[in-house]
Amino acid sequence: MTGMRDILPQDQKHWEAVRSVAKKIANSYGYQRIDTPILEDVNVFVRGVGKQTDIVAKEMYSFTDQGGDILALRPEGTAAVVRSYIQHGMFNQTQPIKMFYIGPMFRHEKPQSGRYRQLYQLGYEAIGEINPALDAQLILMGYNSLDELGIESTITVNSIGCPDCRNEYKKALVKYYRGKSKLLCEDCKRRIGSNPLRLLDCKEDGCQNLKDEAPQILDYLDDGCKDHFMKVVEYLDELDLPYVLNPYIVRGLDYYTKTIFEYWAVDDTTGKNALGGGGRYDGLVKVLGGREETPACGLSMGMDRIVSKLREKEIEVPEIYGPDVFIAQLGEAAKKKAMVLYESLRKKTDFKLAQAFYKDSLKTQLELANKLKVKFTLILGQKEIGEGTILIRDMEGGVQEVIDFDKIEAEISKRLDKYAKNGNPVMIIGEDITALNTENGGINDEIDEVKEDSKYVIDTGEDIIDIIED
Ligand code: HAM
Repeated sequence: MTGMRDILPQDQKHWEAVRSVAKKIANSYGYQRIDTPILEDVNVFVRGVGKQTDIVAKEMYSFTDQGGDILALRPEGTAAVVRSYIQHGMFNQTQPIKMFYIGPMFRHEKPQSGRYRQLYQLGYEAIGEINPALDAQLILMGYNSLDELGIESTITVNSIGCPDCRNEYKKALVKYYRGKSKLLCEDCKRRIGSNPLRLLDCKEDGCQNLKDEAPQILDYLDDGCKDHFMKVVEYLDELDLPYVLNPYIVRGLDYYTKTIFEYWAVDDTTGKNALGGGGRYDGLVKVLGGREETPACGLSMGMDRIVSKLREKEIEVPEIYGPDVFIAQLGEAAKKKAMVLYESLRKKTDFKLAQAFYKDSLKTQLELANKLKVKFTLILGQKEIGEGTILIRDMEGGVQEVIDFDKIEAEISKRLDKYAKNGNPVMIIGEDITALNTENGGINDEIDEVKEDSKYVIDTGEDIIDIIED
């Protein structure tokens, strides 16, 4: 399906990195998770986002269900979160209510790069607070979400005032554009009457050229809106955030009042593929049926665009599945004992384990262990069972040792600790060295003299590269 895609196992680590940063940032600023249904009554968005907006008028997926209700696949999260705030009487709790969400949204957009029909957003919303410090903190949270992932961004900020000052401004805009309608794109010709603010952020060249001479909203703000905006900007300065004031961003949703902002990657000059955006929406609770005027502010980030930026910039993200220890077995009795060992280590320790008990060939298991880049493989065979031992193989050095079966846990802990401290090359205490002369990893020949209590550093090629004497 156009604009919809699978996110495959090998791609998940980037998505997981974004999700975990979102959770971390939410936690740092006291935002708690909310999940709303993917389907909502269509009116939540028609009334909340605005009937005339592109999102609702052109892009929303809606249908009548078997019971005759008209439902919509949510095109965004804010209106749904506000619906939930009202429905569950959250206004009775201490304000603001701070919530975050992660999940899919649906917009029937024209397919093009950075635009999907099933898109994923993470969002932070704070409902029930008017103070401009909240706007600044939300702006900071969006910025930090990108920064923690290693993505450099610039914040574009504007204010579109309250409905009163915006009405005056809209009149001035209509007057300006009416004389120039021949130069506008078809959409904007239509928007002059319905949604003149959108002419300012139209990405068509003809419309872009006209906006430089257009009246600017900041000249139309009343004292209250101006004061609010000045405070937000002061806090951004204090926080030393890289922002630019951009009088032409208006955002495509009707619920905004006062502060609005977007995050653009540093190398994006047009904002066509903004990484996120948000703003204040002081009227939305009332519009959706709330009893009191309830100020609110929030933002959402586009996860698809963030993930593609991580890839484009080749930013390293943590592996999701990165086992340290593989347990291999040879023979039926060993398989059974290895399965029990696996369960006991899995429950008792936090070792990152891997196995392939469904494979019989040792060669296949070792190949898999190699592919998984584990640090050690434990190998259990008939002989080891008889002797109460197990082989432990250092996968980087190829060194293989026999250890007591009962000492597995302590031995792995010790080795993983050493690994964490020293990485590779592997550090081995001198008195252990003699034990390492096995068929796979004979290294004693390389050492002229084994001194007790000395540390020998052995590189992966089994050559001694350094000897540190205590
Ligand atoms: P929005 O600007 O419509 O705002 O979307 C936020 C972000 O979602 C965009 O900046 C972009 O990164 C991403 N996005 C939007 N559409 C697509 C698409 N078709 N494909 C890929 N990514 C897309 C909102 O949705 C508001 N709810 C933000 C908000 C929260 N305002 C207040 N609170």
